[in-house]
Amino acid sequence: MTDKGLVLTGDRPTGPLHLGHYIGSLRKRVEYQEKGHPVFIIIADWQVLNEDPSRSGMIRSNIETIILDYLSVGIDPKQTNIFIQSQVPAITILTEIFQQITPYSWLANNPTVKDEMRRHLERMGRTDVKVGKEERAFTVGFFAYPVSQAADILFCLGEIVPVGKDQEPHINLARDIAGRFNDIYGRPIFPKPECVVDTITPRLPGLGGPDEKMGKSAGNAIFLSDPIALVWEKLKGAYTDPEKPKKGDTGHPDICPIFAYWNAFEAEWDNIASVREDCESGSLGCFDCKKRFFDTILQPFLQRIHERREVALGSVDVWEIVRQGTSAANKAGEGTLELVREVMGIDYPM
Ligand code: TRP
Repeated sequence: MTDKGLVLTGDRPTGPLHLGHYIGSLRKRVEYQEKGHPVFIIIADWQVLNEDPSRSGMIRSNIETIILDYLSVGIDPKQTNIFIQSQVPAITILTEIFQQITPYSWLANNPTVKDEMRRHLERMGRTDVKVGKEERAFTVGFFAYPVSQAADILFCLGEIVPVGKDQEPHINLARDIAGRFNDIYGRPIFPKPECVVDTITPRLPGLGGPDEKMGKSAGNAIFLSDPIALVWEKLKGAYTDPEKPKKGDTGHPDICPIFAYWNAFEAEWDNIASVREDCESGSLGCFDCKKRFFDTILQPFLQRIHERREVALGSVDVWEIVRQGTSAANKAGEGTLELVREVMGIDYPM
């Protein structure tokens, strides 16, 4: 990897972004941006169609929301290219090429795809689909979206991919596809992208307990754009350590979502050890712990984000931002495709 490796990551425009996105990926994007890496952020609109192709009509307004979320956390479109997947033909063409070199067996049993399929079936109340046979109920596009995601990363020769833990199988697939392409055509065209997962909090739990991941549609998320009063309501009602029903009981921070939140913001606050101690000894009750977290960390953090969002709302044209980012992405993609065509010998004289 070069020392200022190209960073590529992104999101599905299915709704507003939440704290889990911030901890897992958004804050890393800002760090890389500040360190001077080239950063590309993909708004993966094709992927929205995976679970439910009839939802295409809501993508447009979700794109507007998500761009405001980006700006609110400090992503600067002057330094970072924000672009739309479906508007970069090189990604679609590379997807076709990668499909030809990806063995079926590399896709079967992808744990993240399986999980998403299972959850979708549950939401739909489909009990007729046999466990382990989920993919038969879904489209080819859903089953194979990790191939398209490899093209999302490789079209611009992405090297660093900051994502949540659940995305790891996809990034590993992209590495394998890159390696296979380079082997077949005998030239090292593609880098092997590296998956960067937050080590302190690989997976931020939701408000409903430590076993569930914070998710857009799971009803367990604190959204970056939630009004402050609503955030406190949500936090007050959040699940904590079940073995600590009242203040004075000894607590178990490692199974408590609120402690996971403290931990996630550790870099911004250096006194995490005292929260652990006070929880374990019983001197800090769960309500007081939530209040302390809200007052010292969450509220000031969200306030900053909301202020930036307000400024952006009054001063920027989100479609102009995405037009410029997409233009940069297309430039990168055309360069890659030219090389790909050349090494494959499909650069026809026409
Ligand atoms: N699958 C990712 C998600 O659901 C979004 C995504 C699409 C992505 N293409 C990508 C992430 C490329 C990293 C790199 O969050």
